[in-house]
Amino acid sequence: MTLAELENEKAESLKAIAAAADAAAVEALRVKYVGRNGSIPALIKAMKDVPKEERPAFGKAVQAWRAEVEGALAAKGAGAGGEKSVDADLTLPGRWRSLGVKHPLSRVIEETAAIFGHLGFTVADGPELENKFNNFTALNTPPHHPSMDRSDTFWFGDDCLLRTQTSPVQIRTMMANKPPVRVICPGRTYRRDTTDATHSANFHQIEGLYVDTKPVSLADLKSVLAYFAKEMMGDGVTVRFRPHFFPFTEPSVEVDFTCHVCKGRGCNVCKQSGWIEVAGAGMVDPRVFKFVGYDPEEVSGYAFGFGVERIAMIKYGIPDIRWLYENDVRFLSQLA
Ligand code: DAH
Repeated sequence: MTLAELENEKAESLKAIAAAADAAAVEALRVKYVGRNGSIPALIKAMKDVPKEERPAFGKAVQAWRAEVEGALAAKGAGAGGEKSVDADLTLPGRWRSLGVKHPLSRVIEETAAIFGHLGFTVADGPELENKFNNFTALNTPPHHPSMDRSDTFWFGDDCLLRTQTSPVQIRTMMANKPPVRVICPGRTYRRDTTDATHSANFHQIEGLYVDTKPVSLADLKSVLAYFAKEMMGDGVTVRFRPHFFPFTEPSVEVDFTCHVCKGRGCNVCKQSGWIEVAGAGMVDPRVFKFVGYDPEEVSGYAFGFGVERIAMIKYGIPDIRWLYENDVRFLSQLA
């Protein structure tokens, strides 16, 4: 193609674009001139065949043609660079996507890890599918204990079960580490419960374990749980210990917080007692130390375990445990 021919073609192309009646015609012309197999790219590809001395002038003319054709196409509403035109008002505000909030159970677990982190505790983990030794035997739980029963626990064969508590992580931690040991263990636990406002077959616990070669006393346990209560629930909360029995602690206690609703005066939530049961705890039984290979004459320690759902329900005033699992944004967004 000579320069003169090129100028002719250019004039013709611009006239055609100017005359294009609708978007389809503009698009057809875009394809014809600047599309991947259009005439202008073809000319650029054929540039190597143009005699060397004519090449700069010819190249310039082709680039000028392309620029003018693109300008004319854009003026007719064709998308720049060959995209389809968009019929949209780009000045409108964008579509709002609401940000999620952290689930209350995750928040309680993370806050607990932070509170105990300040006291030097680290987070330990264990599997949800446990063996009998870790979940029961090493925790000094006798075969006649009701939690061993198939009607209370999800068994898979004789030695494998969905853990009924996070306490087996105590066993795993002690078997894998020498004292001192200072851990909390958050995680899922399972029991054959029918679901109602306060029960679920799957729920979460946080276990705590402190073992040292220095003497550890019930006073240490009490002060740590009192500190935790205030950090988690606020200054107004008081902690009460009641004697209880757990196979793996001696002595054992149950731990109550003052009722968050009535502040201890007595109401329906706390069944008029002024207290809400939150945790089980106690001094680690010497027999547990023997099971994990620690010498009970050398070490002492305390352990505790509480329900994450229970804390979340008290802290956020959630009356029904099922709300924690339904993933209903109308509920969850209220806790933002
Ligand atoms: N594992 C117990 C339960 O699920 C709770 C518990 C009680 C944990 C006393 C402990 C403890 O570590 O010392 O009911």
